[in-house]
Amino acid sequence: MRKFVDSPLLAVDCLSSLSPSMVRVRDLVIRAARSNINVCIYGQTGTGKEVVARRIHDLSSRASAPFVAVNVAAIPSELVESAFFGHEKGAFTGAMERKVGFFEAADKGTLFLDEVGEMDWKMQTKLLRVLQEGVITRVGGTKELRIDVRIITATHVDLNRSVLEGRFREDLFYRLMGVDISLPALCERREDVLGLAEMFVDGYCVRNGLSSCVLSNEVKELLLSYSFPGNVRELKAMMERAVVLCDGGVIRVRDCNLSSGAINSEQWLACERSLEEYERLIIEHFLRKYDNKVRVVAERLKISKTKIYNLLQDKKFNQI
Ligand SMILES: Nc1ncnc2c1ncn2[C@@H]1O[C@H](COP(=O)(O)OP(=O)(O)O)[C@@H](O)[C@H]1O
Ligand SMILES: [Mg+2]
Repeated sequence: MRKFVDSPLLAVDCLSSLSPSMVRVRDLVIRAARSNINVCIYGQTGTGKEVVARRIHDLSSRASAPFVAVNVAAIPSELVESAFFGHEKGAFTGAMERKVGFFEAADKGTLFLDEVGEMDWKMQTKLLRVLQEGVITRVGGTKELRIDVRIITATHVDLNRSVLEGRFREDLFYRLMGVDISLPALCERREDVLGLAEMFVDGYCVRNGLSSCVLSNEVKELLLSYSFPGNVRELKAMMERAVVLCDGGVIRVRDCNLSSGAINSEQWLACERSLEEYERLIIEHFLRKYDNKVRVVAERLKISKTKIYNLLQDKKFNQI
C-alpha cells in the first residue's frame, strides 16, 4: 500500500511512476533542502505548492524547528505589520497582550509566504529590510530581535511581470527568487494522475476504516482525459468522495463528480498536449478497452502492431 497523503509526504517521494516534470521537481526539492537558499514556487492553485514547501522544510536541517505557513492575501492590510512582526502590549488600541509575529514564530525554521505577489508595497519594503538585516522590531517595541528564518514563497502570478508593471519590488524579487520551482498543472502531467488517485484512494480507505478499493477501467480513462481545473486538490477531493460512495470495492464513474460535467473532446483538447501524447492516450484507451490485445487495437486504429509494441516498450508508457 502506498503511504498516505495528509502527512506532508510529497507524492513524488513515494510514487514510482512520475512525469519528467515531477522528477525534476523532486530533484530541486532535494537540492534546495540541502541548503539555506530561498525558494520561490510557481504554480496554479491546487498544484501542490504548499506540499513542496513543507517537504523542503522537512528534508532540511531546520526540520525540527517550526514551519509557519502564511497566506499573504488573507491578511487585512492594517494588520499586516503586527501579524509579521508581532506587537508589544498596548502598542495600539486592542493590543491587550504582547503577541509574537510570524517571523519570530518561524525563528530557526521556515516561513512560507503563499500568494506573495499580493503583498503591498509597504510590506515589501519591510520584508526586504528583514532579509537584508536579519532583525525585526515588534510593533510598539524598541528592541531589535535577531531572527533566522528561511523564506519559501509561492505565487500563481508571474512575479517577473509584476516587477515590470511596478507592482513588486525588483530588489525583493531577486532576494526571494533563490531557486525557483515551477509546478505544472495536473493535466500537463497525466503520467502522475493514476498514481496520485490510487494513493489518495488507499489513504482514504484507511482513514475511513474501509477495506481497500480499486479504480474501474472506465474511471481510469476518465481521469486520464479530464482536465482537472482544480489540479491535485480536485483529484484528492474527488477520490475522498468516491471512496465513501463506491460499492463492492470498485470505484465507478458514477462515484466521481467532475466539476465541469462530463468529459468532452473540447476539454480533452484543452489540455494542449503534443500530437504524440494524444496518440499515446488514444492507443492506451484502446488497449484497455480490448484487454491489451495488440492485434485488435492495431486493426481498430489502422496502425501497425510494431507501433504499439514500440510504445509498450517505452518506459513511461509501461508505468501508466
Ligand atoms: N504531489 C502531491 N502529493 C501529495 N499530495 C498532494 C500533492 N500535490 C498536491 N497534493 C494535495 O493537494 C492539495 C492541494 O495542495 P497544496 O499544496 O495546498 O496546493 P497549492 O498550495 O498549490 O494550492 C493538498 O490537500 C495536498 O495535500
Ligand atoms: Mg496553497
